[in-house]
Amino acid sequence: MRFDIVALLPGIVEAVASEGVVGRACTQGKVQVHCTNPRDFAEDPHHTVDDRPYGGGPGMVMQYEPLARAHGSVRKANPEARTIALTPQGIPFTQALAREAAKEKGLILIAGRYEGIDERFLNQQVDAEWSVGDYVLSGGELAAAVVIDTVARLLPGVLGCAESAGQDSFSEGLLDCPHYTRPEEIEGLRVPEVLLSGDHGKIARWRRREMLGRTYRRRPDLLDRTALSAEDRALLDEYLDSTSEETDRERDD
Ligand code: ADE
Repeated sequence: MRFDIVALLPGIVEAVASEGVVGRACTQGKVQVHCTNPRDFAEDPHHTVDDRPYGGGPGMVMQYEPLARAHGSVRKANPEARTIALTPQGIPFTQALAREAAKEKGLILIAGRYEGIDERFLNQQVDAEWSVGDYVLSGGELAAAVVIDTVARLLPGVLGCAESAGQDSFSEGLLDCPHYTRPEEIEGLRVPEVLLSGDHGKIARWRRREMLGRTYRRRPDLLDRTALSAEDRALLDEYLDSTSEETDRERDD
């Protein structure tokens, strides 16, 4: 998939495209990441891309024209792409949205800076606005990097079997279970015995119970208890009977 990012600080996005999973996918030609700077599309000698907001107030607003010219140029290179603006006002970017995005032919990500982007550009040229969380970043570049990383790892062949995305947190609407590696004991802290038992049925059951329990305690908003299977409900009850909220909270603090 080809990702085009329209950004004033492309270096932030380029970092994600040159390292790790996305870096490898780029080298293998499974993913292409191209950055375009709207400043290169400003027509005045100072390469201005922002101006004061109508109605007054602090900060500057990204102007329509340099963005529209940059976007027009990018569209020619990635004609079937969906255009997404990263803004704190967007709908929440979730794993479900990432899964849908991974089916697109391409994505054009518009990273805002300053107070925001001229609303006319958002209305005219953008298919959707996404937010990566209820906090305000200094710009959309980091948010675009988050989207690229999350979507790229869902594309066919990007992750090896060993890294499979199917077992990630959220892949089934649940948080992931705890993981342990060697040594078996460290400073008196032992790996849960079940994981050493070699009994794959028991291990799978323990992992499922942990996933359900953690999701219930940490992110109850993700868990619709009534929609759980009878087996999952029984596992969750077992988890709740065997752990106290205080123990969980102590561990999380
Ligand atoms: N730009 C600034 N904050 C953002 C956020 N939370 N999500 C997406 N883009 C942003």
